[in-house]
Parts: sequence; structure tokens; C-alpha cells
Amino acid sequence: SENGLALTPPMIFNSWAVTGCDISQQTFVDAANTLVDTGLAAAGYNSINIDDCWSAAERDADGNLVADATKFPNGMKWLGDYLHERGLKFGIYADAGTKTCAGYPSSWGHFEQDADTFASWGVDLLKLDGCNMPSMDGQTSDQVLQTAYTQMSEALKATGRPIVYFESAPAYATDLPTVLSWASQIGNLWYSPQDGSAESAQYAGPGHWNFYTTLKPQDSTSTIEKQAEFSMAAQLASPLVFSADPATLTAAEAETISNPAVIAVDQDPYGAQGTSVGTYGNVTVWSKPLANGDISVLFSNSGDTNERASLTASQAGFSIDAPAYSLSNLWTGQTTQSAGTISADVAPHGVTMYRVTPLRRAAPGAAPATDLM
Ligand code: DGJ
Repeated sequence: SENGLALTPPMIFNSWAVTGCDISQQTFVDAANTLVDTGLAAAGYNSINIDDCWSAAERDADGNLVADATKFPNGMKWLGDYLHERGLKFGIYADAGTKTCAGYPSSWGHFEQDADTFASWGVDLLKLDGCNMPSMDGQTSDQVLQTAYTQMSEALKATGRPIVYFESAPAYATDLPTVLSWASQIGNLWYSPQDGSAESAQYAGPGHWNFYTTLKPQDSTSTIEKQAEFSMAAQLASPLVFSADPATLTAAEAETISNPAVIAVDQDPYGAQGTSVGTYGNVTVWSKPLANGDISVLFSNSGDTNERASLTASQAGFSIDAPAYSLSNLWTGQTTQSAGTISADVAPHGVTMYRVTPLRRAAPGAAPATDLM
């Protein structure tokens, strides 16, 4: 988007996937304190996105959206202030159609009014869902989505407040490439198909990101599987959105999604989305060029046994041969060196993720690099 926001992928807490409509002011007060206490806020998760079901059943007499007074007794401006005082950003939810997915008032016909309301509450991020879109004479359903999402984009800009714009529209699209193409021009992040394909990669870059999957640090998958999912999200420069019960999330549960070296790949300022560069048995290899000339190389094993895969530095994406490469394993912390082959043992359903740094040729007359293999 041209709003100058989200130059790196947003990092967001959203309780929806775990607690759904069962939310209150306390949910987000707890979330704020949990983000700070577990170190997740310091790791970069600095936004809290309230999802559906925060609204009262009806707009007020002036047609303004209002919070459910039982769930949010102090109101939304108070909650925004509470988050801001803790260094956090305040995200909220609306729907572009005539009702939210859960049946609450939504923004069709009220785009400017609702954007103004959100700005007055100090909102920093809006997730705009796409349930219950009306039909319009002479417009396809995708065109109705485009009309509505564009109106909200304009309305947010007109508030003068910097508000990151998160679009659910592609999840409701019929012709996905067309919707991705306009959604990436008017929004900062959007739901994207799960495949991380080369077609979707072209839409990613500073200010505009494909969002692939909600991370769930408390679900029953293994640590290896959670590391794999998180690594893939980072390799795809996806916004890092996680869902948890804030009242029970522990620092140990938060640990995987706090790995600073993996977060640095996600947040790399060059902003390239990683792409697949080869498949070796059940192992797919993904390459993401980074701002300092390093490349993040991710080996992902979909099989049920350990597998080993190898490729050359050139196959991994280096265009100029270096005399040697340093391979920093982002999960074990070990660093090895290679003359040009990048190899990994990959656990079943797991990943091996390296940050690969080309080592410069020694200056003439310098002592030989004895540490090279
Ligand atoms: C559908 C979206 O995909 C979810 O993330 C959530 O926002 C619900 N709607 C809310 O009703």
C-alpha cells in the first residue's frame, strides 16, 4: 500500500483461533501483560488485534459503532490507551459487508464513519473481513469486494491517522490473482492461499505482505512441527500472527515463536518472499535473499523419516561464487563452513534453516583461511 506503513511484516497477537467470540476487556488486558511478561513484545510482537464479537448488537443513535458495554466496560478508547501505554499497537476488526461473520454491525455504507470512529479510539491496525457482502447490479462478487475494500482504504487514509490495513478479501475471492493484484496495492497485508507460490510471491514486499497461517503455540503439535511452521512463515516473509489464550500462555510456549534469528529472517528489510528452489525426495528447499547479501535457506521435510538433501550455493540463489560460505543453523545455533555445498539432515515433518553468508576471498598476501573445510 502507499500509506508508508508495515515496511516489515507486522507481528500480531490475535485470540480468534483459540478463544473466538469469548472475549472481553480482560482478554486484551491479559494479552498486553502476557506479551510484555513473556518477552514476546520485546521479540517484536507489538500489536494486539481484537477480532469479531467486540461490538454491541446495534449501532448507536448516530449510527456509530459502539463496543459491547458488558464485554468492554471501559470502552475502546480506554483499551487503546492501555495498550499504547505498554508500547503496543491497537488493532481492531470490522467487516466490509452488511454484517460481520458472527452477525454484528459492519461497515458497508459506513466506511468513512467507521474509519473515523477507529481513528478516534487510537486504532493502529484494521482487519477488514469479507462476510455478508451484498450483491450489486452489474458487478461480480469480486468487483463488490474491490469496491468495498477500496472505499475503506480511502477512508482510513482520509482519517490522517496511520492505520495498517489487513484485508481478508482474498479469502472470499472467486478469481484469486485479480483480487491479489488490487488487494496488494491498497492494503498492507492480506489472507493468501497456503501454497507460498511464485505467483503470490510477486505481491510481497515492504508495505505489502501475503499472510499465510496463524501460529498456535499452545496446540498439540510437536515442537519440531511448530518450529517448521514458524520457520516457513518467516521464510515467506509472512506477517507473524499468533493465537493463544493470553491467560494461560507460558514463556515456554512462547519460546519457539520468539527465536530471534528466525524473526530476523522474517523481518529482513529487503522484504523478499522466499521461493522454492528445488525438491530432493520429500525435502523442499526455499531461498530468501536478505538485505546484507546473505541468503536464508530452508529445508522442509514432508516425509516420515530423516532425509538428507544437498544443493550448490548457486542452486540456493548465490549468483557469484564465493570461495567459502558460513552456514548458521538458526535452530541449533551451530555454525559450519562449506566450500559451496549446502547440505542438511532434516527431521521428519521438520526443517533445517540456515542463514548462509558468503565469505570474502582473502586479500593477496594475507594468511590462508585455515578454518575453511
Ligand atoms: C473469518 C476469519 O477468517 C477469521 O479470522 C475471523 O476473523 C472470523 N471470520 C470472525 O468472524
